[in-house]
Amino acid sequence: MNPSTDYATEFARRVALVTGSASGIGLAVARRLAAGGAALAIADINKKGAQAVADEFRAAGTQAIAVGVDVTDPASVQNAVQATMNQFGALHLAVNNAGIGGPVAPTHRYPQEEWRRVIATNLDGVFHSLQYELPAMLSSDGGAIVNMGSICAVNGFAGVAAYAAAKHGVIGLTKTAALEYAARGLRINAIVPGFIETPLLANATAEERAQLVALHPNGRLGTAEEVAEMAVFLLSDRASFVNGSHHLVDGAYSAQ
Ligand code: NAI
Repeated sequence: MNPSTDYATEFARRVALVTGSASGIGLAVARRLAAGGAALAIADINKKGAQAVADEFRAAGTQAIAVGVDVTDPASVQNAVQATMNQFGALHLAVNNAGIGGPVAPTHRYPQEEWRRVIATNLDGVFHSLQYELPAMLSSDGGAIVNMGSICAVNGFAGVAAYAAAKHGVIGLTKTAALEYAARGLRINAIVPGFIETPLLANATAEERAQLVALHPNGRLGTAEEVAEMAVFLLSDRASFVNGSHHLVDGAYSAQ
């Protein structure tokens, strides 16, 4: 850690777009970026939720806009990036975090329409985001991107075929984009969180939750703030030689 880093200003004059930032991990990342002085585009399919977050940020002195976006739709993502550029004149940082869990079913019974929906959101969504963020960043002053993976991006997990396939794909996209844009000053990394206490797990029963906790040697689920710390590190100049890799925040889940 660079002891001279001033965490209250390390993202000053930086513009950040976070997808899925009306809730959970994305919201925690947006809060942490705002605390570091960034201007924020709060982009979410839940436009009302995004508006509430942007209003709260503005009231606290952060420059912020709310953008309604459906990451499954390339035109919608293009509009979101354009709206960010129109408002702030640049894009330096992005966190491609919007995602859904999808159903739990063995592969031979996994509903095909749900497969399409999960892949469209969790994998196509990251691809669409990269397609429009990368040119915006190239026309700005460098940049860094974090894609949200999962322990299901590096391990199988019974019952979630589409989620695991999409998240494994996110790692491939991350590595490929990093290779393509490294020489032009962009860094693209991924985070691999264990199970995190967010609304995504709201439908889990107490028994399912206990089973999830038992998967983590740390003896608990993670918090959105713990994932956000990794995200802001990867987005910061402190991570200037970190590129094309994925970073575990999983309470030793993957160490077993
Ligand atoms: P969350 O449900 O609290 O937040 C997800 C956000 O994404 C919501 O605000 C939702 O409105 C938005 N969203 C959903 N579909 C969208 C779309 N098509 N376009 C734009 N926005 C959309 O969930 P959480 O837990 O914060 O998840 C964030 C990311 O972290 C996801 O990619 C998820 O797969 C990943 N993750 C979550 C873990 C967990 O245990 N909660 C573990 C590992 C990864």
